[in-house]
Amino acid sequence: MCGIVGYIGDKQAYDILIHGLHRLEYRGYDSAGVAIEHETGELNVYKSKGKVTELESSVEGKDTGGTLGIAHTRWATHGEPNDVNAHPHVSEDRTLALVHNGTIENYGVLKTALMQHGYHFSSETDTEVLVQLISYVKHTNRCSLFDAVREALRQVEGAYAIAVVEKGNPDMLVVARKSSPLVIGIGDGETFVASDATPIVGYTDKVVYLKDNEIAVIRRDAPLEVHSIDSIQHPVPDIQTLKLSVEQLEKGGYDTFMLKEIFSQPGTLRDCIRGRITNDCKRVVLSGVIENRDRFINANRIVIVACGTSWHAALIGKRVIQEMCRISVEVEYASEFRYGCPYITDRDVVIAISQSGETADTLAAIQLAKSKGAFVYGICNVVGASIPRDTDSGTYIHVGPEIGVASTKAFTGQVTVLTLLALCAGQIRKTIDTETVESIARALTELPQTIKEVLTLADTIKELSRIYTYARNFLYLGRGYNYPTALEGALKLKEISYVHAEGYPAAEMKHGPIALIDSEMPTVIIAPNDSLYDKIISNVQQVKSRGGSVIAIVSKGDRSMEQIADHCLEIPEVPECLTPIVAAVPLQLLAYYIAINKGKDVDRPRNLAKSVTVE
Ligand code: F6R
Repeated sequence: MCGIVGYIGDKQAYDILIHGLHRLEYRGYDSAGVAIEHETGELNVYKSKGKVTELESSVEGKDTGGTLGIAHTRWATHGEPNDVNAHPHVSEDRTLALVHNGTIENYGVLKTALMQHGYHFSSETDTEVLVQLISYVKHTNRCSLFDAVREALRQVEGAYAIAVVEKGNPDMLVVARKSSPLVIGIGDGETFVASDATPIVGYTDKVVYLKDNEIAVIRRDAPLEVHSIDSIQHPVPDIQTLKLSVEQLEKGGYDTFMLKEIFSQPGTLRDCIRGRITNDCKRVVLSGVIENRDRFINANRIVIVACGTSWHAALIGKRVIQEMCRISVEVEYASEFRYGCPYITDRDVVIAISQSGETADTLAAIQLAKSKGAFVYGICNVVGASIPRDTDSGTYIHVGPEIGVASTKAFTGQVTVLTLLALCAGQIRKTIDTETVESIARALTELPQTIKEVLTLADTIKELSRIYTYARNFLYLGRGYNYPTALEGALKLKEISYVHAEGYPAAEMKHGPIALIDSEMPTVIIAPNDSLYDKIISNVQQVKSRGGSVIAIVSKGDRSMEQIADHCLEIPEVPECLTPIVAAVPLQLLAYYIAINKGKDVDRPRNLAKSVTVE
């Protein structure tokens, strides 16, 4: 949700800021803007509704000179996406410019008070309130920019990552964070600021992840200074080495990031599994589980919290953990968890799953679980994000940066890690035999090859997608392990092609949704050769006998479904718990090609943002 970038150094800031905005565009693309301190002492602010390229066109021919600047790409929360609501926001006297990611919850009260002091507002945003508040504090207290920002933030409730510059103060950039991420890149005579490390890669590998309630002063020719917002503490910045490469952030010859990410899954799954299964496949070694073995042995139950695609992975995790660990597992939407009067005790293990590691609802669920004494375990992709820092222990999925807004490789990585966790905890709890571990672990090590085979279906799926491009509704059905896969397939189609799709447990269809079936409504059925195969065959017959067309994902060599379904996509046979990983890939491709046929921007679907840092 919104991306912010900042630069101070000896280079021209504009190009660096625009490059950073492109990298962060996955966080929102409703509008974009820059504020640059010009050598003449002017503070030039340019902003525009729409994507970063639209900002670039609108700035053509204008003076963008200057070596200090801030920039923003927006996912609208307060106020519609237009030029006025775009960031940076400036104070009424135009001496301060600020970019913000997050929400100021008490902005109404602050705005009323500022209006009583004679301030006027031009936008509908909460952010403009913050920049006016800083300006008010600065004038009232006659203090420095740093003191004014710190004092203003003490009056603010909500979440923020901000960067502020001041007209006529070309040597200083002030940044701060609370609940929204902010990374500072330390280069040679230059400093970078961004919502995540992607705009910084290629310039420097030395980074500081600002912590909650910290404010930093970045001076042109002085070391980074970090302070606490609320106290007089002066933390020493923890400089870490970034392990990201420029290649990981580029399309690498693919038309879109989403297609690159779908096709990268053989490699990402290899990275995800690496070092976690012994050579003889008899043991699974997840250090986060092993180091906390007593928590997993003594747990009363496991509760998994997540949102969106990660929530679908959680549903598969529930099934595999219950099977391997013989423990009750509950899955909650993180966004509902804290409002559902949750009963959590210090004997519970709470697992939080998040690709970005920054989802506000998941973070809030973690805080609540911790306050009840639960042991909180994170499953995350982005190294150094808030969730892995806020949890007691955890496992990275290690699938590399996911830039396409629709999650693909993170989903398969999450399900893989959940399977590893189930096997590892099952061994510790002695609820699983070595043969089972061995057969699943071996199949996990073979997953890269298995997925490579699945990807050879791409051309067939591309052809198939042409038949269904203009269908207006889809039903996705699955049972057991693959009911969540059906939900995930439907979500992929919805978010990138804007076609209505519903995921349903196949057997539930007859309790209502079957009324929707007619020749206009295609059904996608996930029906691998598993323990529920015979049951799902009769569900397919129910659809066919009502005139619906069926696309079935089946195991290789399935000749029964061929007789009933309109189209069969064959996937290699794997242990039942791994079928969601293998079946997800053709569903990703089907959604992808339908969206492309419809001319949609699959990497940046409308209204969405990759990282949902607001409630
Ligand atoms: C869907 C998608 C979203 C995310 C959700 C949670 O393709 O990407 O539904 O899964 O916003 O995000 P994370 O996993 O970052 O917490």
